[in-house]
Amino acid sequence: MSILLSKLHPTWIRSTLNSWAMTSMSCSKVMHSTLPTEAVIASKKPYKVELISGKRYSWCTCGHSKKQPFCDGSHKTKAQGLAPHRFVAEKDSTVWLCGCKYTNNRPFCDGTHKSEFITSATLAEESDLKS
Ligand code: FES
Repeated sequence: MSILLSKLHPTWIRSTLNSWAMTSMSCSKVMHSTLPTEAVIASKKPYKVELISGKRYSWCTCGHSKKQPFCDGSHKTKAQGLAPHRFVAEKDSTVWLCGCKYTNNRPFCDGTHKSEFITSATLAEESDLKS
């Protein structure tokens, strides 16, 4: 069982568990969910950013911000279960901040955007147009 779980993408596991939880909630006629909202994919590539030492940043975790990769407050209306990831730059540096929102090393890109889950997914702009 643990070997099987180690081969599954964490996002797929989270999505599946959320879907099971929502199914069981609707069966019991409970309509309110306390589960976090899933992030949408803002970009399938990271953003190259110049950080300034000591400056405070809010990295967008929901994917809806129009100021990617940073927060513009969109999570308050589009992803209420999510909040920005706040951090302070330790030194002046050029970094690659995650655009897909599924990195395991927030806020930095860790290559997760290369996974099938991300490459085959719909971008936030496309999903916003459908809603
Ligand atoms: S852009 Fe998200 S891991 Fe690279």
